[in-house]
Amino acid sequence: MSHGKVLVLHGPNLNLLGTRQPEIYGHETLEDINNGLYEQAALNDWEIACHQSNHEGALIDAIQAARLDGTTAIIINPAAYTHTSVAILDALNAFEGRVIEVHLSNVHKREAFRHHSYVSLRADGVIAGLGSQGYRAALAALIRS
Ligand code: DQA
Repeated sequence: MSHGKVLVLHGPNLNLLGTRQPEIYGHETLEDINNGLYEQAALNDWEIACHQSNHEGALIDAIQAARLDGTTAIIINPAAYTHTSVAILDALNAFEGRVIEVHLSNVHKREAFRHHSYVSLRADGVIAGLGSQGYRAALAALIRS
């Protein structure tokens, strides 16, 4: 089992989790999800930082900072930027650690515009449709590998 440092990035509108279309995104808040991840990381001696932003540039700045601060892996739910952002893909391409893309909903079961992901061109793994369990599964996979 390795020890590492993971950055969890949540994209736009994910600050509204719990009240935003709960039939699609669940009843847990972002704080609930992050607290679970902090606990899971601590139990495994992993460092973790969780950030949410509604701004594409702020997400890119966080990915760039991760190149320099010893971060070994990124778990990212780019939310709507998944389907639009070449800039986030480029930033992730400049990051050398592992990248796991997470979506709460099964994007493939939804509108056609959600079926394409720029970030999937870089991601080492993709989890969609498992709700908040997807983040926990992503962290567990990183910790075990
Ligand atoms: C999402 C799916 C995206 O299509 C959507 O824009 C989101 C959330 C998800 O977690 O299911 O905001 O990334």
